[in-house]
Amino acid sequence: MTRWLFLPCSTRAGGNTLTLARAAAAHLPAGAKAAWFDLAAPPLPRFADLRASGGHAAPLGRLAELAAATLEAEELVIASPLYWYGLAGPGHEMLDHWSGWLEVAGMEFGERMRGKRLWLISVRADPAPGAQAPLEDVMRRTAAWMGMRFGGALHGVGDAPGDVLADAAALAHARRFFTTPEA
Ligand SMILES: Cc1cc2nc3c(=O)[nH]c(=O)nc-3n(C[C@H](O)[C@H](O)[C@H](O)COP(=O)(O)O)c2cc1C
Repeated sequence: MTRWLFLPCSTRAGGNTLTLARAAAAHLPAGAKAAWFDLAAPPLPRFADLRASGGHAAPLGRLAELAAATLEAEELVIASPLYWYGLAGPGHEMLDHWSGWLEVAGMEFGERMRGKRLWLISVRADPAPGAQAPLEDVMRRTAAWMGMRFGGALHGVGDAPGDVLADAAALAHARRFFTTPEA
């Protein structure tokens, strides 16, 4: 059994990114067990950089749940709308917390993340090819910096909720996305 964790980041309910992520999740490889953790609702506590004072303690509450789900999974899927050419705020907030968790004594977050696989699913309004490139680059670099593998990126186009269902190329890619990893 392989544990997959889906991390939706949209700040609205029922949006395009969730729709595309669900379409892809319907075609997970055999033996996959999927869990979902909404990063936007309820919101994660705001990260504060306490590294210089050695103040990062073990996560509590919702952050503890997120950390446990993250460390349990072998496959992590960030599902984010494109916001200002990058990750939506809730996804960014999670990555900021990763920086804190890397400092927590005894958590061994960095060591335990190594070798896991990171995937990106995103939807944007701008159909111009390349508009998604900065976000994809961030996720590829994040995976590399964490010693993770990058599974691949699935991009759709749509603005109003439901629009992505008209993106036939994205829906076709969704069907094969998780069974054709890059690494
Ligand atoms: C704060 C904000 C920033 C956005 N920035 C971009 C952008 O840089 N490029 C783009 O193509 N679309 C941008 N959009 C449009 C969204 O990516 C688009 O509406 C997408 O379908 C939203 O996904 P969701 O339905 O999963 O929330 C932005 C939307 C918001 C609310």
